[in-house]
Amino acid sequence: MTIQERHRLKGTLNISGDKSISHRAIILGALSIGETKIYNLLESKDILSTIKILRCLGISIKKESNCWVVSGNGSGGFKQPRAALNAGNSGTTSRLLYGAVATNPIYCTFIGDHSLSTRPMSRVTELLENFGAKVKLTKKNYLPLSIEGTQNALPLKHVITKPSAQIKSSLMLAALNIHGQTTIIEKQATRDHTEILFRYLNIKFKQIDYKNGRKKIVLNGPYEIISKNIYVASDPSSAAFFTVAALITPNSNITIKNVCLNKTRIAYITVLKKMGANIKIKKEGKLSGETIGSINVRYSKLRSIVISNKIAPYLIDEYPILAIAAAQAKGSTIMRGLAELRYKESDRLNSIHKNLESCGIKTEIKKDDLYINGCDFALAGNNKINSFNDHRIAMSFSILSLRCKKPLKISNLKCINISYPNFHKDLKSILKSA
Ligand code: S3P
Repeated sequence: MTIQERHRLKGTLNISGDKSISHRAIILGALSIGETKIYNLLESKDILSTIKILRCLGISIKKESNCWVVSGNGSGGFKQPRAALNAGNSGTTSRLLYGAVATNPIYCTFIGDHSLSTRPMSRVTELLENFGAKVKLTKKNYLPLSIEGTQNALPLKHVITKPSAQIKSSLMLAALNIHGQTTIIEKQATRDHTEILFRYLNIKFKQIDYKNGRKKIVLNGPYEIISKNIYVASDPSSAAFFTVAALITPNSNITIKNVCLNKTRIAYITVLKKMGANIKIKKEGKLSGETIGSINVRYSKLRSIVISNKIAPYLIDEYPILAIAAAQAKGSTIMRGLAELRYKESDRLNSIHKNLESCGIKTEIKKDDLYINGCDFALAGNNKINSFNDHRIAMSFSILSLRCKKPLKISNLKCINISYPNFHKDLKSILKSA
């Protein structure tokens, strides 16, 4: 008997807190004055990296029975760390914190694991250098790097050409302790959790959204942020794994609750609906400024589509799981403009391509576009999958394994702890015999 004959997904699920919001909640708690209680904080390896670094910068962060308590020192209140700051595997930890420390008069060395040490950092640090921080990078782009922060950072206009929420957020955090007007222009608007949390914390700034996709943010520092408790909505990128699992497993019907329905994060649902997915979203309210609600998903016959490069910044973490949906859709799906995928926890363009090929799914990379020739029947399975120690690759292929006659043999599943330690527990809870 095959797995897909034995199993279907059924039931209701509450998943862990959003990774992007969790990083920002802890960092903004540290930059506030007073105590911030954070509820539903994601307790994954990446978030623990942010917590550890902030503790090295003199911030007290404690876990209580139902929340985390951050005692902030204000926007210029970091202490000189005694040792190198280790961001582990986390791009968001490192890039956001470069900005936060760069306007404090301290000297910091940042290090990271092997993967993080191969990811480009000058995209952020060159902007910080413009306002007066002194930065030294290994081979001009990589960790380890050192930042000598400045209390007299210049109020400047910055133009960001790469669509990256991390670059924008790093500058926004720096601007909190810059005297005068900092203007940030994004050529292409990206995820907006930092803006939403700033507004929630009464940090006043101007925002203009242009019709051509550009965005302008004007901050007037320095700011004194008064602490306010933060409730973290559940992670839509984690929800995406179960969404696709239910879509490709016959007879499935699941509901995921209290998910962050921020528009810059759920473009994958629009894409899946275009592929024929039966997904219903119900908005249910707001949580610390973010729209939340439930996602209901039923098994659906998927068909291939072309995904434009214009929405790439809003799908950036979902391409691996969308590739699994495409692998189970009839026809050839084209995903355009995936250059940024090469700079994630692994070279995700390559990780997706190699692993789908070893499952017998024909794929091709043409420049920055990915072509996937899907099939809507169960795969043989039993083949090896290299997770490349990348959490989203490991979870995506764990989902494809549900549609294999014999399970896929995925290397280092432990890397899932980077973003979603409860992944297997949650998957088990909705996996029912058919
Ligand atoms: C993130 C932004 C994205 C995303 C990452 C989290 C954030 O990166 O890939 O997982 O929290 O700002 P970029 O927008 O920098 O590509």
